[in-house]
Amino acid sequence: MKIVAMVGSNRKDSYNMKLASFMQERYKDKLDIEILPIGQLPFYNQDDELDPSDIVEDIREKIRNSDGILFATPEYNASISGVLKNAIDWFSRVDKVMVNKPAMIVGASMGRLGTVKAQMHLRQILNAPGVGTITLPGNEVYVGAVHEKIDENGNLTDEQTAQFIDSVMDNFVHWIEKMSVKQ
Ligand code: FNR
Repeated sequence: MKIVAMVGSNRKDSYNMKLASFMQERYKDKLDIEILPIGQLPFYNQDDELDPSDIVEDIREKIRNSDGILFATPEYNASISGVLKNAIDWFSRVDKVMVNKPAMIVGASMGRLGTVKAQMHLRQILNAPGVGTITLPGNEVYVGAVHEKIDENGNLTDEQTAQFIDSVMDNFVHWIEKMSVKQ
């Protein structure tokens, strides 16, 4: 099963990138998770959408060929980051490759609430007609106090959190399989 991941932070030591990379490694025997380089996308501009740069086309193709999308979102000012919104805006247009794609959301922050507000907004955005992912209900993964849970090598050392993410990932995979049978 092929999953593409969008990580809403482009900083070098991003906890959300570490979380996505941890998941990529942890589930590699059953899932191929590819982290998309959305931080390299140009600013969305409606003037360019019919003739965008190669990176837009490359990422669009990867989303089109995936079985699902994993979003790893930071919380910026009680919402998602510009990097993530920019990517969602690009791929909500022209071919609308996210429509009907299964999606799941995780998010990490140093605060206790672990991106609750960002994820509420993200669920709303994903429900916009041009985006249209079918987002896994429930299964909300808020990794708060993340600086106490990830070590310097990027390992999620908090066993309880890791096991919870295991269970959500299992739910996501079974849910995708069930939906594919229906289609
Ligand atoms: C933040 N941060 C933050 N944290 C939070 O819990 N609620 C918030 O509203 C915000 N707002 C916010 C705005 C901006 C502009 C920045 C740069 C940061 C802190 C943020 O969660 C923290 O920097 C995370 O580590 C960002 O995620 P990455 O980059 O580690 O993945």
